[in-house]
Amino acid sequence: MSSYAQDVDHDNKPSASARHPAEPSSSRTTPSGPGFDGAILARLIRRLRVSESPERFQTLALGAARSMLDVAAAAWVPSQYQEKTIVAGEVDGLAHHDFSSFVTPAADRLTLIDNQPGNPLVARLAAVAAEHQGAGGWLIVVNPRNGRAFGRDDIALLEPIVAAIVTQHANARLYADLKELLFGVIRALTSAIDAKDPYTSGHSERVARIAVRIGEQLGLTPNQRGDLYLMGLLHDVGKIGIDDNVLKKTGPLTPDEYRLIQSHVVIGVRILEDLKKLRHLLPGVRHHHESLDGTGYPDKLSGSSIPFEARILAVADAFDAMSSTRPYRRKLSFSQISEIFLKGSGVQWDSKVVDALMACRSDLELIRQKGLGESLQVVVNDTLGRA
Ligand SMILES: [Fe+2]
Repeated sequence: MSSYAQDVDHDNKPSASARHPAEPSSSRTTPSGPGFDGAILARLIRRLRVSESPERFQTLALGAARSMLDVAAAAWVPSQYQEKTIVAGEVDGLAHHDFSSFVTPAADRLTLIDNQPGNPLVARLAAVAAEHQGAGGWLIVVNPRNGRAFGRDDIALLEPIVAAIVTQHANARLYADLKELLFGVIRALTSAIDAKDPYTSGHSERVARIAVRIGEQLGLTPNQRGDLYLMGLLHDVGKIGIDDNVLKKTGPLTPDEYRLIQSHVVIGVRILEDLKKLRHLLPGVRHHHESLDGTGYPDKLSGSSIPFEARILAVADAFDAMSSTRPYRRKLSFSQISEIFLKGSGVQWDSKVVDALMACRSDLELIRQKGLGESLQVVVNDTLGRA
């Protein structure tokens, strides 16, 4: 940087030649080279998504810079040393890390034009720095293909691109924080359900995994399976609001106690309905105890009026309950479970779902043994990515 210090332009004001990006391309074309291209910039802005990885967006932005300025290479040198320098295009003999030697980390907006860098590999160099909410760095372009010198017009072309890079980066960080928060909320709710009743500990996670496997067997899309996973984790969240003495009672329940237990599906909806990003899970939470013949609760829905996800959860829920030892009974064998499902198929449970469960029975024990893993992170990502 020191050898270029005299060339660094510290003027933060827009240059006289800078125009608004929305102007037609003809108004920004210079006689010495290419200029503003609204279509390229519009394409880039359309990709300015928080769920896009910053590195991916930076690569797209560098491609846009190369096209608009018609240069051999463009690079993004982040001000945070732990982040990667991204390069698009190539200059023979010039390595990625060489780009970072052309500039220094900058907190404020700076520009640099150097048409005689003194580096045998770099004939011309222009750069713009920007920072937004802690995300910052330099956008560098080198060696125009027609050999022209860089000028203020080139800086003006780079400015909207560098602004897009730092904005996307800062927003992607916020998105990552939000993702972490939602991940934490789901984990906390699942732990709270488990803590409420040690005998059913891990039940939600197992139901989630079994439901996903059934969904796979039924050919559901990854998004639908992701929803099933979250519904499985949270299907019994309403039990948090049920009196422990009733929830853990091993003897027969009175009618009032039975009604109280049944209310967990409605309480679950009440707990989750304020979490906008999880609202699409409510049908599974509310209806996982409906029965195909209309004798279930809370709405006595029957047949296809029961949401499909809820019909899958009902089978996964029953399978895990029968496969687990409870204070009042030992776990059932697979042949006992099969018999119960075959009797209830088409009466209590959707026969297509029961068939799918039976078709993947060899996987079920392994699925039940697995712990909470990466899958929640993937699903949270998909969930946040939706409108
Ligand atoms: Fe339940």
